[in-house]
Amino acid sequence: MVQGVRGMRDLLPVQTPRWRAVETAAINLLSGYAYQEVQLPLLEYTALFARGVGEATDIVEKEMYSMSDRDGDSLSLRPEGTASCVRVLNENGLLYNQTQKVFYTGPMFRYEKPQRGRYRQFYQVGAEVFGFAGPDVDAELVAVCAELWQYLGVADHVRLEINTLGDQGARRAYREALVEFLTPLAQRLDEDSQRRLQTNPLRILDSKDENTQALLVGAPELADFVDEQARAHFDGLCATLDALGIEYVHNPRLVRGLDYYTHTVFEWITDQLGAQGTICGGGRYDGLVERLGGKATPAAGFAIGTDRVDLLVEAVHQAAPEAAADVYICMAGAVDTSQALVAAARLRTALPGRKVRSHMGGGALKKQLKRADAGQARVAVILGETELAAGEWTIKHLADGEQQTLAVAAALEQIRTYF
Ligand code: HAM
Repeated sequence: MVQGVRGMRDLLPVQTPRWRAVETAAINLLSGYAYQEVQLPLLEYTALFARGVGEATDIVEKEMYSMSDRDGDSLSLRPEGTASCVRVLNENGLLYNQTQKVFYTGPMFRYEKPQRGRYRQFYQVGAEVFGFAGPDVDAELVAVCAELWQYLGVADHVRLEINTLGDQGARRAYREALVEFLTPLAQRLDEDSQRRLQTNPLRILDSKDENTQALLVGAPELADFVDEQARAHFDGLCATLDALGIEYVHNPRLVRGLDYYTHTVFEWITDQLGAQGTICGGGRYDGLVERLGGKATPAAGFAIGTDRVDLLVEAVHQAAPEAAADVYICMAGAVDTSQALVAAARLRTALPGRKVRSHMGGGALKKQLKRADAGQARVAVILGETELAAGEWTIKHLADGEQQTLAVAAALEQIRTYF
Protein backbone atom coordinates (compact mmCIF):
# COMPACT_ATOMS: atom_id res chain seq x y z
CA MET A 1 0.00 0.00 0.00
CA VAL A 2 1.22 3.52 -0.71
CA GLN A 3 2.08 5.20 2.59
CA GLY A 4 1.44 8.76 3.67
CA VAL A 5 4.23 11.34 3.33
CA ARG A 6 6.30 11.49 6.50
CA GLY A 7 5.29 14.25 8.88
CA MET A 8 2.02 15.13 7.10
CA ARG A 9 -0.81 14.94 9.60
CA ASP A 10 -3.60 12.39 9.35
CA LEU A 11 -6.32 13.59 11.69
CA LEU A 12 -8.64 10.70 12.43
CA PRO A 13 -12.33 10.86 13.31
CA VAL A 14 -11.60 10.25 16.99
CA GLN A 15 -9.11 13.13 17.01
CA THR A 16 -10.93 15.77 15.01
CA PRO A 17 -13.65 16.81 17.52
CA ARG A 18 -11.20 18.12 20.12
CA TRP A 19 -8.84 19.49 17.47
CA ARG A 20 -11.73 21.29 15.76
CA ALA A 21 -12.98 22.59 19.12
CA VAL A 22 -9.59 24.27 19.69
CA GLU A 23 -9.68 25.93 16.27
CA THR A 24 -13.31 26.97 16.65
CA ALA A 25 -12.72 28.44 20.10
CA ALA A 26 -9.85 30.55 18.73
CA ILE A 27 -11.93 31.71 15.76
CA ASN A 28 -14.91 32.63 17.95
CA LEU A 29 -12.71 34.51 20.34
CA LEU A 30 -10.95 36.46 17.58
CA SER A 31 -14.30 37.27 15.98
CA GLY A 32 -15.42 38.62 19.36
CA TYR A 33 -12.42 40.95 19.28
CA ALA A 34 -13.58 42.13 15.82
CA TYR A 35 -10.89 40.32 13.82
CA GLN A 36 -12.00 39.39 10.30
CA GLU A 37 -11.05 36.25 8.43
CA VAL A 38 -8.72 36.18 5.41
CA GLN A 39 -8.03 33.11 3.34
CA LEU A 40 -4.45 32.85 2.19
CA PRO A 41 -3.22 30.62 -0.63
CA LEU A 42 -1.16 27.54 0.18
CA LEU A 43 1.37 28.41 -2.54
CA GLU A 44 3.34 31.61 -2.87
CA TYR A 45 6.47 32.65 -4.75
CA THR A 46 9.48 31.43 -2.80
CA ALA A 47 10.84 34.99 -2.87
CA LEU A 48 8.00 36.16 -0.59
CA PHE A 49 9.24 33.98 2.27
CA ALA A 50 12.93 34.51 1.47
CA ARG A 51 12.40 38.25 1.73
CA GLY A 52 9.72 38.19 4.42
CA VAL A 53 10.82 35.52 6.87
CA GLY A 54 14.54 36.00 6.09
CA GLU A 55 17.14 34.20 3.95
CA ALA A 56 19.19 33.19 6.99
CA THR A 57 16.38 31.64 9.01
CA ASP A 58 16.06 27.88 9.46
CA ILE A 59 12.67 28.06 7.80
CA VAL A 60 13.96 29.52 4.54
CA GLU A 61 17.36 27.85 4.60
CA LYS A 62 16.27 24.28 5.08
CA GLU A 63 12.59 23.78 5.83
CA MET A 64 10.60 24.94 2.83
CA TYR A 65 8.80 22.71 0.38
CA SER A 66 9.81 24.48 -2.81
CA MET A 67 9.20 23.50 -6.41
CA SER A 68 9.29 24.94 -9.89
CA ASP A 69 6.01 25.28 -11.67
CA ARG A 70 5.63 24.74 -15.39
CA ASP A 71 6.77 28.30 -16.12
CA GLY A 72 9.96 27.72 -14.17
CA ASP A 73 8.89 29.99 -11.29
CA SER A 74 9.98 28.89 -7.84
CA LEU A 75 6.96 28.37 -5.60
CA SER A 76 6.82 27.25 -1.98
CA LEU A 77 4.14 25.76 0.23
CA ARG A 78 3.60 28.36 2.91
CA PRO A 79 5.72 27.70 6.00
CA GLU A 80 3.82 30.41 7.91
CA GLY A 81 1.07 32.95 7.34
CA THR A 82 2.43 36.39 8.18
CA ALA A 83 4.35 37.14 4.98
CA SER A 84 1.45 35.86 2.93
CA CYS A 85 -1.04 37.93 4.91
CA VAL A 86 0.99 41.09 4.33
CA ARG A 87 1.15 40.34 0.62
CA VAL A 88 -2.58 39.68 0.31
CA LEU A 89 -3.65 42.82 2.17
CA ASN A 90 -1.09 45.01 0.44
CA GLU A 91 -1.83 43.70 -3.05
CA ASN A 92 -5.53 44.33 -2.48
CA GLY A 93 -5.02 47.87 -1.23
CA LEU A 94 -6.13 47.09 2.31
CA LEU A 95 -3.13 48.47 4.18
CA TYR A 96 -2.62 51.96 2.86
CA ASN A 97 -3.87 54.53 5.42
CA GLN A 98 -6.10 52.00 7.13
CA THR A 99 -6.14 49.76 10.13
CA GLN A 100 -6.84 46.03 9.83
CA LYS A 101 -7.35 43.19 12.27
CA VAL A 102 -7.47 39.83 10.55
CA PHE A 103 -7.08 36.14 11.27
CA TYR A 104 -6.45 33.02 9.21
CA THR A 105 -6.41 29.30 9.85
CA GLY A 106 -5.02 26.31 8.04
CA PRO A 107 -2.06 24.10 7.31
CA MET A 108 1.54 25.28 7.15
CA PHE A 109 4.45 23.20 5.85
CA ARG A 110 7.97 22.91 7.21
CA TYR A 111 10.49 20.19 6.55
CA GLU A 112 11.38 19.62 10.22
CA LYS A 113 12.21 16.38 11.98
CA PRO A 114 8.81 14.93 12.82
CA GLN A 115 8.01 13.97 16.39
CA ARG A 116 5.08 14.38 18.79
CA GLY A 117 3.95 18.00 18.48
CA ARG A 118 6.19 18.68 15.48
CA TYR A 119 4.86 17.88 12.05
CA ARG A 120 5.76 18.76 8.50
CA GLN A 121 2.16 19.69 7.87
CA PHE A 122 0.79 21.43 10.93
CA TYR A 123 -2.00 23.86 11.59
CA GLN A 124 -2.06 27.42 12.83
CA VAL A 125 -4.61 30.00 13.82
CA GLY A 126 -2.89 33.29 13.11
CA ALA A 127 -3.92 36.85 13.91
CA GLU A 128 -2.36 40.00 12.46
CA VAL A 129 -3.05 43.68 13.08
CA PHE A 130 -1.93 46.56 10.88
CA GLY A 131 -1.79 50.29 11.40
CA PHE A 132 -1.50 50.29 15.20
CA ALA A 133 1.82 51.53 16.54
CA GLY A 134 1.20 51.48 20.30
CA PRO A 135 1.88 48.72 22.81
CA ASP A 136 -1.83 48.45 23.62
CA VAL A 137 -2.42 46.33 20.53
CA ASP A 138 0.52 44.08 21.46
CA ALA A 139 -1.20 43.61 24.82
CA GLU A 140 -4.52 42.89 23.15
CA LEU A 141 -2.93 40.13 21.07
CA VAL A 142 -1.51 38.58 24.22
CA ALA A 143 -4.88 38.98 25.96
CA VAL A 144 -6.73 37.07 23.24
CA CYS A 145 -4.40 34.12 23.82
CA ALA A 146 -4.76 34.36 27.59
CA GLU A 147 -8.53 34.23 27.20
CA LEU A 148 -8.27 31.22 24.91
CA TRP A 149 -6.18 29.27 27.44
CA GLN A 150 -8.79 30.12 30.09
CA TYR A 151 -11.61 28.97 27.88
CA LEU A 152 -9.83 25.70 27.05
CA GLY A 153 -9.04 25.09 30.72
CA VAL A 154 -5.26 25.02 30.23
CA ALA A 155 -4.35 28.45 31.66
CA ASP A 156 -2.66 26.90 34.69
CA HIS A 157 -0.29 24.97 32.44
CA VAL A 158 1.13 27.75 30.27
CA ARG A 159 3.47 30.66 30.87
CA LEU A 160 4.04 33.80 28.88
CA GLU A 161 7.55 34.97 28.00
CA ILE A 162 8.07 38.41 26.53
CA ASN A 163 11.00 40.48 25.33
CA THR A 164 11.81 43.51 23.24
CA LEU A 165 14.19 43.43 20.29
CA GLY A 166 14.20 47.20 19.90
CA ASP A 167 14.14 48.69 16.42
CA GLN A 168 16.11 47.41 13.45
CA GLY A 169 19.08 49.64 14.30
CA ALA A 170 19.32 48.18 17.79
CA ARG A 171 19.17 44.66 16.42
CA ARG A 172 21.93 45.40 13.93
CA ALA A 173 24.18 46.93 16.59
CA TYR A 174 23.51 44.09 18.98
CA ARG A 175 24.21 41.51 16.29
CA GLU A 176 27.63 43.05 15.69
CA ALA A 177 28.45 43.09 19.41
CA LEU A 178 27.36 39.48 19.81
CA VAL A 179 29.44 38.32 16.84
CA GLU A 180 32.46 40.17 18.25
CA PHE A 181 31.94 38.48 21.63
CA LEU A 182 31.41 34.97 20.23
CA THR A 183 33.97 34.89 17.42
CA PRO A 184 36.94 34.06 19.70
CA LEU A 185 34.78 31.26 21.22
CA ALA A 186 33.57 29.94 17.89
CA GLN A 187 35.39 26.57 18.06
CA ARG A 188 33.65 25.75 21.34
CA LEU A 189 30.12 26.46 20.14
CA ASP A 190 27.84 23.62 19.07
CA GLU A 191 27.73 22.90 15.36
CA ASP A 192 24.45 24.71 14.65
CA SER A 193 25.61 27.78 16.54
CA GLN A 194 28.92 27.86 14.62
CA ARG A 195 26.93 28.07 11.40
CA ARG A 196 24.57 30.64 12.88
CA LEU A 197 27.45 32.84 13.89
CA GLN A 198 27.83 33.62 10.18
CA THR A 199 24.17 33.65 9.20
CA ASN A 200 21.86 34.43 12.11
CA PRO A 201 23.83 35.02 15.33
CA LEU A 202 20.85 36.08 17.46
CA ARG A 203 19.49 32.56 17.17
CA ILE A 204 22.50 31.29 19.11
CA LEU A 205 20.80 32.72 22.19
CA ASP A 206 18.07 30.10 21.69
CA SER A 207 20.53 27.21 21.54
CA LYS A 208 19.50 24.20 23.62
CA ASP A 209 23.15 23.14 23.94
CA GLU A 210 24.40 23.47 27.53
CA ASN A 211 27.99 24.27 26.54
CA THR A 212 26.87 27.03 24.26
CA GLN A 213 24.60 28.42 26.97
CA ALA A 214 27.56 28.42 29.38
CA LEU A 215 29.65 30.33 26.84
CA LEU A 216 26.90 32.92 26.59
CA VAL A 217 27.31 33.93 30.22
CA GLY A 218 28.70 37.44 30.11
CA ALA A 219 27.61 37.99 26.50
CA PRO A 220 26.29 41.45 25.66
CA GLU A 221 22.62 41.86 26.50
CA LEU A 222 20.14 42.99 23.90
CA ALA A 223 18.45 45.20 26.50
CA ASP A 224 21.55 47.44 26.59
CA PHE A 225 21.16 48.24 22.89
CA VAL A 226 17.51 49.15 23.02
CA ASP A 227 16.81 52.88 22.86
CA GLU A 228 14.56 55.01 25.03
CA GLN A 229 11.61 54.79 22.68
CA ALA A 230 11.73 51.01 22.44
CA ARG A 231 12.03 50.73 26.20
CA ALA A 232 8.98 52.98 26.61
CA HIS A 233 7.05 50.73 24.21
CA PHE A 234 8.03 47.67 26.23
CA ASP A 235 7.18 49.36 29.53
CA GLY A 236 3.79 50.28 28.05
CA LEU A 237 3.19 46.64 27.16
CA CYS A 238 4.17 45.47 30.65
CA ALA A 239 1.92 48.08 32.28
CA THR A 240 -1.07 47.01 30.17
CA LEU A 241 -0.46 43.34 30.91
CA ASP A 242 -0.26 44.20 34.62
CA ALA A 243 -3.53 46.09 34.38
CA LEU A 244 -5.15 43.10 32.64
CA GLY A 245 -3.82 40.76 35.33
CA ILE A 246 -1.83 38.73 32.78
CA GLU A 247 1.32 37.24 34.28
CA TYR A 248 4.52 37.16 32.24
CA VAL A 249 8.23 36.53 32.51
CA HIS A 250 10.69 38.89 30.83
CA ASN A 251 13.14 36.60 29.03
CA PRO A 252 15.93 38.84 27.67
CA ARG A 253 17.17 35.93 25.51
CA LEU A 254 13.89 35.44 23.64
CA VAL A 255 14.55 36.35 19.99
CA ARG A 256 12.22 34.08 17.91
CA GLY A 257 13.19 32.31 14.72
CA LEU A 258 11.83 34.64 12.06
CA ASP A 259 13.68 37.75 10.94
CA TYR A 260 10.85 40.24 10.69
CA TYR A 261 10.36 41.03 14.36
CA THR A 262 11.05 44.42 15.94
CA HIS A 263 10.19 45.55 19.48
CA THR A 264 7.80 43.12 21.17
CA VAL A 265 8.24 39.36 20.88
CA PHE A 266 6.36 36.79 22.93
CA GLU A 267 5.83 33.07 23.31
CA TRP A 268 3.35 30.98 25.25
CA ILE A 269 5.06 27.87 26.57
CA THR A 270 3.87 24.76 28.36
CA ASP A 271 5.86 22.16 30.28
CA GLN A 272 3.36 19.44 29.36
CA LEU A 273 4.63 18.69 25.85
CA GLY A 274 8.35 18.13 26.31
CA ALA A 275 10.60 19.77 23.74
CA GLN A 276 7.71 21.05 21.62
CA GLY A 277 6.36 23.24 24.39
CA THR A 278 5.83 26.51 22.49
CA ILE A 279 2.14 26.58 21.69
CA CYS A 280 2.00 30.13 20.35
CA GLY A 281 4.49 32.75 19.18
CA GLY A 282 4.27 36.27 17.92
CA GLY A 283 5.34 39.84 18.11
CA ARG A 284 5.61 43.16 16.34
CA TYR A 285 7.01 43.47 12.83
CA ASP A 286 6.92 47.14 11.94
CA GLY A 287 9.36 46.82 9.00
CA LEU A 288 7.81 43.93 7.10
CA VAL A 289 5.15 45.68 5.04
CA GLU A 290 7.78 48.04 3.65
CA ARG A 291 10.25 45.21 3.11
CA LEU A 292 7.63 43.48 0.98
CA GLY A 293 7.05 46.56 -1.14
CA GLY A 294 4.29 48.38 0.73
CA LYS A 295 4.23 51.67 2.57
CA ALA A 296 5.77 51.57 6.07
CA THR A 297 3.00 50.25 8.35
CA PRO A 298 3.21 49.22 11.99
CA ALA A 299 2.09 45.63 12.45
CA ALA A 300 1.96 42.82 14.98
CA GLY A 301 0.50 39.35 15.34
CA PHE A 302 0.78 35.81 16.59
CA ALA A 303 0.16 32.25 15.50
CA ILE A 304 -1.18 29.47 17.68
CA GLY A 305 -0.03 25.93 16.91
CA THR A 306 -3.44 24.26 16.79
CA ASP A 307 -1.95 20.75 16.97
CA ARG A 308 0.10 21.54 20.05
CA VAL A 309 -2.80 23.22 21.85
CA ASP A 310 -4.89 20.18 21.03
CA LEU A 311 -2.22 17.93 22.58
CA LEU A 312 -2.10 20.19 25.62
CA VAL A 313 -5.86 20.02 26.10
CA GLU A 314 -5.59 16.25 25.86
CA ALA A 315 -2.73 16.12 28.38
CA VAL A 316 -4.46 18.38 30.87
CA HIS A 317 -7.93 16.94 30.71
CA GLN A 318 -6.99 13.41 29.76
CA ALA A 319 -10.16 13.73 27.82
CA ALA A 320 -12.16 10.68 26.97
CA PRO A 321 -12.89 10.57 23.26
CA GLU A 322 -15.84 12.76 22.55
CA ALA A 323 -19.27 11.14 22.25
CA ALA A 324 -19.97 9.88 18.75
CA ALA A 325 -23.57 11.07 19.25
CA ASP A 326 -25.55 12.79 21.99
CA VAL A 327 -28.86 11.33 20.89
CA TYR A 328 -29.09 7.93 19.18
CA ILE A 329 -32.21 6.92 17.31
CA CYS A 330 -33.20 3.24 17.35
CA MET A 331 -35.97 1.52 15.45
CA ALA A 332 -38.19 -1.27 16.76
CA GLY A 333 -40.38 -3.59 14.65
CA ALA A 334 -41.31 -2.49 11.16
CA VAL A 335 -40.16 1.12 11.50
CA ASP A 336 -37.76 1.98 8.73
CA THR A 337 -34.75 4.31 8.46
CA SER A 338 -36.66 7.07 6.68
CA GLN A 339 -38.79 7.57 9.79
CA ALA A 340 -35.64 7.74 11.88
CA LEU A 341 -34.24 10.43 9.56
CA VAL A 342 -37.43 12.48 9.96
CA ALA A 343 -37.16 12.18 13.76
CA ALA A 344 -33.47 13.10 13.57
CA ALA A 345 -34.29 16.30 11.70
CA ARG A 346 -36.77 17.30 14.44
CA LEU A 347 -34.22 16.54 17.13
CA ARG A 348 -31.52 18.61 15.43
CA THR A 349 -33.86 21.57 15.17
CA ALA A 350 -34.93 21.22 18.80
CA LEU A 351 -31.39 20.67 20.12
CA PRO A 352 -29.05 22.93 18.17
CA GLY A 353 -25.41 21.93 18.53
CA ARG A 354 -26.21 18.39 19.75
CA LYS A 355 -25.12 15.42 17.71
CA VAL A 356 -27.97 13.26 16.56
CA ARG A 357 -27.34 9.96 14.90
CA SER A 358 -29.78 7.46 13.41
CA HIS A 359 -28.99 3.79 13.60
CA MET A 360 -28.23 2.29 10.21
CA GLY A 361 -27.98 -1.33 9.20
CA GLY A 362 -30.94 -2.86 11.05
CA GLY A 363 -30.62 -5.50 13.75
CA ALA A 364 -32.33 -6.19 17.06
CA LEU A 365 -33.27 -3.29 19.34
CA LYS A 366 -30.90 -4.63 21.99
CA LYS A 367 -27.99 -4.41 19.57
CA GLN A 368 -28.98 -0.88 18.58
CA LEU A 369 -29.09 0.23 22.22
CA LYS A 370 -25.66 -1.28 22.75
CA ARG A 371 -24.38 0.83 19.88
CA ALA A 372 -25.93 3.94 21.50
CA ASP A 373 -24.14 3.13 24.74
CA ALA A 374 -20.81 2.45 23.06
CA GLY A 375 -21.00 5.83 21.32
CA GLN A 376 -21.55 7.49 24.72
CA ALA A 377 -24.96 8.84 23.74
CA ARG A 378 -26.94 10.36 26.57
CA VAL A 379 -30.38 9.49 25.23
CA ALA A 380 -31.77 6.81 22.96
CA VAL A 381 -34.98 7.58 21.11
CA ILE A 382 -36.82 4.38 20.28
CA LEU A 383 -39.26 4.56 17.42
CA GLY A 384 -41.94 1.85 17.58
CA GLU A 385 -44.81 1.35 15.13
CA THR A 386 -47.66 1.87 17.61
CA GLU A 387 -46.04 4.89 19.22
CA LEU A 388 -45.35 6.55 15.88
CA ALA A 389 -48.98 6.05 14.85
CA ALA A 390 -49.99 7.80 18.09
CA GLY A 391 -47.49 10.66 17.58
CA GLU A 392 -45.26 9.42 20.39
CA TRP A 393 -41.60 8.48 20.99
CA THR A 394 -40.10 6.27 23.64
CA ILE A 395 -37.01 7.87 25.15
CA LYS A 396 -34.41 6.16 27.28
CA HIS A 397 -31.99 8.08 29.51
CA LEU A 398 -28.95 5.86 29.21
CA ALA A 399 -27.19 6.87 32.43
CA ASP A 400 -29.95 5.42 34.64
CA GLY A 401 -31.98 3.40 32.13
CA GLU A 402 -35.16 5.37 32.84
CA GLN A 403 -37.57 4.95 29.95
CA GLN A 404 -40.81 6.78 29.12
CA THR A 405 -43.20 7.11 26.22
CA LEU A 406 -44.34 10.66 25.54
CA ALA A 407 -45.97 12.77 22.85
CA VAL A 408 -43.22 14.00 20.53
CA ALA A 409 -43.26 17.61 21.81
CA ALA A 410 -43.10 16.43 25.45
CA ALA A 411 -40.35 13.96 24.55
CA LEU A 412 -38.28 16.75 23.03
CA GLU A 413 -38.80 18.83 26.20
CA GLN A 414 -37.73 15.90 28.36
CA ILE A 415 -34.63 15.23 26.24
CA ARG A 416 -33.62 18.87 26.61
CA THR A 417 -33.51 18.45 30.39
CA TYR A 418 -30.90 15.72 29.99
CA PHE A 419 -28.28 18.17 28.66
P1 HAM B 1 6.25 30.34 14.67
O1 HAM B 1 6.80 30.51 16.02
O2 HAM B 1 7.16 29.85 13.62
O3 HAM B 1 5.65 31.74 14.27
O4 HAM B 1 5.00 29.38 14.72
C1 HAM B 1 3.92 29.63 15.58
C2 HAM B 1 3.48 28.37 16.29
O5 HAM B 1 3.20 27.35 15.32
C3 HAM B 1 4.54 27.75 17.16
O6 HAM B 1 4.57 28.37 18.43
C4 HAM B 1 4.06 26.31 17.27
O7 HAM B 1 3.04 26.19 18.23
C5 HAM B 1 3.46 26.08 15.89
N1 HAM B 1 4.41 25.32 15.06
C6 HAM B 1 5.49 25.79 14.41
N2 HAM B 1 6.12 24.79 13.76
C7 HAM B 1 5.43 23.66 14.01
C8 HAM B 1 5.56 22.27 13.62
N3 HAM B 1 6.53 21.88 12.81
N4 HAM B 1 4.66 21.38 14.09
C9 HAM B 1 3.64 21.78 14.91
N5 HAM B 1 3.46 23.06 15.28
C10 HAM B 1 4.33 23.99 14.85
C11 HAM B 1 5.03 32.00 13.08
O8 HAM B 1 4.71 31.17 12.28
C12 HAM B 1 4.70 33.46 12.91
N6 HAM B 1 4.08 33.62 11.56
C13 HAM B 1 3.80 33.95 14.02
C14 HAM B 1 3.42 35.38 13.88
C15 HAM B 1 2.29 35.87 13.38
N7 HAM B 1 4.18 36.41 14.23
C16 HAM B 1 3.55 37.53 13.96
N8 HAM B 1 2.40 37.20 13.40
